[in-house]
Formats: sequence, structure tokens, C-alpha cells
Amino acid sequence: MNSTIKRALSGIKSTGTPHIGNYLGMIRPAIELQEKHQTLYFIADYHALTTLHNPEKMRKNTYDIAATFLALGLDPQKSIFFRHSDVPEVCELAWILDCVINMGTLQRAHAFKAAKEKGLENEICVGLFNYPVLMAADILIYDSHLVPVGKDQLQHIEITRDIAQRFHHTFGETFVLPQALVQEETMTVPGIDGQKMSKSYNNTIEIFSSPKQLKKQVMKIVTDSTPLEKPKNPETCNVFALYRLFAPKEKVKKMEENYRKGGYGYGHAKKELLQVLEEHFAPYRKKYEQLRNDEKYLETILTQGAQKARNIAQQVMARVRKKIGYAPYPTPSSPNS
Ligand code: ADP
Ligand code: TRP
Repeated sequence: MNSTIKRALSGIKSTGTPHIGNYLGMIRPAIELQEKHQTLYFIADYHALTTLHNPEKMRKNTYDIAATFLALGLDPQKSIFFRHSDVPEVCELAWILDCVINMGTLQRAHAFKAAKEKGLENEICVGLFNYPVLMAADILIYDSHLVPVGKDQLQHIEITRDIAQRFHHTFGETFVLPQALVQEETMTVPGIDGQKMSKSYNNTIEIFSSPKQLKKQVMKIVTDSTPLEKPKNPETCNVFALYRLFAPKEKVKKMEENYRKGGYGYGHAKKELLQVLEEHFAPYRKKYEQLRNDEKYLETILTQGAQKARNIAQQVMARVRKKIGYAPYPTPSSPNS
């Protein structure tokens, strides 16, 4: 790789259908990066397995995500686009990293702490506890410099750096230390209930849901009960928070004025939001449907991407194995294979 070109990498879990939080927080910035950097993006189906144990849904979600990225402009000639589980080397690296990180660090990770607060620490699977280590392996195995993610992932990037430094302390310089790339204005997109929008919270607005479904999702956005004629506070309204992420500045200003002067209801705001979302995604919708109906094509793209990704992963793993004192990978022709 040309040393001035940085490598960017990110992943998205196949736990559901991609939503506008994924789009603004990760998909759009990731696609923009393909113009300037070497980029690798993957569908994190190993991570999805921490919560999803349904093969049909795993397959469906994988294809939904693949079609979404490609429809929105991911170019497989420019980006390496693949499925996590097609590069099993990450599991080998995750095990190795497991042996340099301590339990205390993982106990401070958000997902585990949240489970603990709910009294579920003995119920969650070991994979969920260990999730940050697999994520560190995902990043380190490709010598990634940049990781475009939403704000919720910042702690994981910090843990990744921590793990890499611990490994270096024991075995010497081996990995590239990655940096997170977070877009300030879309750090955390709110869901229709006002919490962070997430596939896991059932509060999403999907990027390519049918117009009917989109309308249903927008109409369900939670608002307060201020009557139509009364002035409203745009700063505390979920509809406005989403509108300002998609509408042009003048329109945002207009809606803000309407809120403040009263006589403008949440129903009006929802209609405007719906319109702006439809307009934003309309140019990509046909392409999405066409791609989504061609799973064979999606498979070909993901398989080709995985070959390229494995190539890089195996080179990094050869470096790692040597540092630890392991033999190189046995090859079929070698005597100890
Ligand atoms: P989800 O929480 O919906 O399961 P993922 O964990 O698969 O989403 O996240 C994929 C990417 O999208 C990550 O970089 C994550 O930070 C980003 N992302 C997810 N939800 C949001 C959100 N509500 N706002 C901004 N970025 C988000
Ligand atoms: N943990 C990320 C999420 O929940 C998905 C992910 C897995 C990821 N591996 C990654 C993101 C590596 C960036 C880099 O959104």
C-alpha cells in the first residue's frame, strides 16, 4: 500500500435491516472515504451471533445490508466489501488478544455494564462479554488507520488501542494503532422513541422500507402532548431532530420558526419529515430493489471481497504468529501439516 494512503475499515452488524442512524453515522461517511482511502467494510455476522440465533434472519439481514451499501454507492472496485465470517482468521486473532487483555477492562465496556445493571451479567453469552476483543481483532487484522463509526463505538476503538499497546508491550511493535472517525453532527441519531436509534431497540426508520412502512415509522415518532395551537420547542422534539439531519438549512429554519410561533402541529412536522426522507432516498430505491432481488450477485461481490480481505488478514497474522513464537501457517505441502 502507498504509505500516504490510509486504510479505513468499519463493520455493521447483521442484526436487522439498516436504518437512517446507520446511514448517517456510518454508511454515508464510509462510502465517501472510498474516494480517498483504501477502504474495507464488512457485514459483522460473527458479532450478530451474540444476539441473533436465527439462520433465516441472519441470511436476510446480510443481503439487506449488502444491497443497501451497494445501492447507496459502495463501489466493489474501490472498496473491499465482505462478510465477517468469510475471514475466520479474525477469530484466531481474537483468541490471541484474549490472552493479553484482562477481565477488568472488558467489565468496564458499555454493553457488559448495561447487562450488569439489568442484573443479566450471568445470562448474556460469553461472546457478548468478549465482543470488544473480536472488534479489536477486526480492526487490527487489516492494519486499519481509520475507523468511521457512530459515537456509540468510541469506547470500542479505545479498547482496541489499549489491547494493541498491551500486545506491543509484551511482544514488540506489531499493529497499526487505529483512530476513530466520528461525524460531529450525526454522532447519535435518535430513534422514533427518542433513545439512540438501533436495530436492537425496535425504534428504527429503515432506509429502504416501503413508502407505507416508512410512513408508519415516521407517524410513530414520539412527541409531547403540546396542543397544535401552542408554541413548541424544536430543541426537545424528535421529529425536528431528525428533520434537521436531512432537510436543507432554509427549510430547517422555517420549521424552527413554525414550532416557535405555534399553530403548527407535530403531524405537520412529521409530513415534512416524511417528504424529505422520501426525496433523499428515492434516487437509490430502484437500484436497491434490483440488487436485493439478486442474491446471487450479492454473494459474488461478498465472496470476491472476502478473498481480498483474507489476503491482507493472513499477512498480518503471519506477522503476529512470528512475534508470539508460533510456526508460520502450516501449508498443505509442508511436512507438519
Ligand atoms: P445498531 O445499533 O442499529 O445495531 P450497529 O451496531 O450495527 O447498529 O452499527 C453500525 C454502525 O452504525 C456503527 O458505526 C454505529 O456507530 C452506527 N450507528 C448505529 N446507530 C446509530 C445512530 N443511532 N446514530 C449514529 N450512528 C449509529
Ligand atoms: N461493533 C460495531 C457496532 O456495533 C460493529 C463492528 C464490528 C465494527 N466490528 C467492527 C465497527 C470493527 C468498526 C470496526 O456497530
